[in-house]
Amino acid sequence: CGIVAYAGVRAATPILLQGLRKLEYRGYDSAGIAVHSEDGIKIYKQEGKVANLVDSLGDYQGDPKHSESHVGIAHTRWATHGPPTTKNAHPHPAGNGRIALVHNGIIENYRGLKAKLEAEGRVFLSDTDSEVLAHLVDYHYDGDLALALTKALKEVDGTYGVACMSEEEPGKLVVARRGSPIVIGLGDGETIVASDASAIISHTRQAIYLDDNDIAVIQGGKVDVKTLDASPVQRDIADIDWSADAAEKGGYEHYMLKEIFEQPEAIRNATRGRIDADQGTAVLSGLALSPRELVDFHRLLIVGCGTSLNAGLVGEYAVEDFAAMLGEVEQAAEFRYRNPIVGSKDLVVAISQSGETADTLAAVREAINKGAMVAGLVNVVGSTIAREAGRGIYLHAGPEISVASTKAFTCQVSVLLSIALKLARGRRMSLEEGQRIANEILRVPDLVQQVLEKNDEIAKVAENFVKFDNMFYIGRGYMFPVALEGALKIKEISYIHAEAYNAAELKHGPIALLEENMPVVALMNKGPGKEKTVGNVEECRARKAPVLGVITEGDDEAREACDWVIEIPECPHYTATIVATTALQLFSYHVARLRGCPIDQPRNLAKSVTVE
Ligand code: G6P
Repeated sequence: CGIVAYAGVRAATPILLQGLRKLEYRGYDSAGIAVHSEDGIKIYKQEGKVANLVDSLGDYQGDPKHSESHVGIAHTRWATHGPPTTKNAHPHPAGNGRIALVHNGIIENYRGLKAKLEAEGRVFLSDTDSEVLAHLVDYHYDGDLALALTKALKEVDGTYGVACMSEEEPGKLVVARRGSPIVIGLGDGETIVASDASAIISHTRQAIYLDDNDIAVIQGGKVDVKTLDASPVQRDIADIDWSADAAEKGGYEHYMLKEIFEQPEAIRNATRGRIDADQGTAVLSGLALSPRELVDFHRLLIVGCGTSLNAGLVGEYAVEDFAAMLGEVEQAAEFRYRNPIVGSKDLVVAISQSGETADTLAAVREAINKGAMVAGLVNVVGSTIAREAGRGIYLHAGPEISVASTKAFTCQVSVLLSIALKLARGRRMSLEEGQRIANEILRVPDLVQQVLEKNDEIAKVAENFVKFDNMFYIGRGYMFPVALEGALKIKEISYIHAEAYNAAELKHGPIALLEENMPVVALMNKGPGKEKTVGNVEECRARKAPVLGVITEGDDEAREACDWVIEIPECPHYTATIVATTALQLFSYHVARLRGCPIDQPRNLAKSVTVE
């Protein structure tokens, strides 16, 4: 979900609505705003996207209650408790509308609290856990909003990023955080609060990131931060270095397409200064580990979710392949709950584009508690995982707005290859071998560029897939994670059901599903295992399944085995993970576009999921 709040010299409504549009990628089931007006707090909310909310406001620009409001809070929702309806949208009022509140996260003990409040005669208007928090604030309210919120938060278990206001204190906003980010942007005579920096960068670059258990009072351009136990604290003012343009579509029809096309540059940024081709190694100062410490680790354990998890699997393969070191990738969501064996001999790398994914954060905390060395591989600077891990490598991929991740994945893989190279050179890899791999990593941006130049061709191939409801993706070795990521991408944005299998595994069950309406995407670029995958493709064709091959340029044998092909330039399997993925991103994009899907905001998804 996304939060925006404003207090300052300008009219609040347009700023809140603009902020909601920027944050829409965090959830778009419903949206709402609350503003102070002459006659008290006004709340407007609407099911669906922010555009629906804007329509429902009609000519709000000409409406005095909007132009006169200088303080307000707003929210765009990704439903957890209660369906995405107008009544469940935030802000939630309490105390006959004297309090309004927006909340990200989950109040775990909301049932007990709700029963208690209902027993006192309070009436709830929504099915959400968040409304309980609004009522609790009102219950404790005695003219001091910060005190009331503090008392309320002491009663709740769970996570929150929260912003609230009271009719009786019209110039004031109170915000707090535990487990769900809050950034306070400091402008000229104004303060813009948001759940992430993308909603504030068009106003200011100066920001305070709240820590867990911080509560801040914002009034008259001043920000006063305390901890929940009322001790005043000084939080640093950070400089946000993302440009406002980077978070715009820049002429592309969708953010996703823009971000796919940004990949050569993004990968250059992710590897800049980090690959030492002369020494055949990587320079990763963010890991802050001496060569000796690096050699002492027994295992590289990688945790992540979704696309980041798929990138992690490439990391596992690379570390075993390059460094002859044990590599393991684990679903972050599973890690904490299965009492994992992890300790001081493990280097744990937590991969997260947003740095806010609750499942990954929980895994980071578990690994730290068990004595492992934890490093974050994160894109968003200052995000929770980056800060809690304490060490790590930023991707420098620039803002990724499209819900379906593209450039973050390819940058994650580039950095994971660098980590594997570094570990390998610290162990047994020769200078010569290291130089060869370093140079291959440096070639990647150009190879990706060559794939992007095939965009029109790939769009043509995509036309053949619009009609299908199911697909298989197959690959072996390094190409298996690519199959997983390809299948995830097509599911996310085109709603075609897709499953990924190791090419060899297909015959052990899934082959029963093959027929003419079950196309197969086969990753069969030149390299170890290619011949065998070609054999698996023959098995598919014999069952009438149409096959799209991602093949190496000029590989006639592979071409002949397929109905359609996308050619990628020749490269080793470990970098082909990036190059082939780029081809599949474009393929998914065009299938989704031709199916008329809302590409940047697929149903039910959100870019950053801050609940477990
Ligand atoms: C959500 C998104 C996925 C993403 C995953 C991990 O589920 O919908 O696209 O891959 O979170 O996100 P992260 O920010 O941790 O990489």
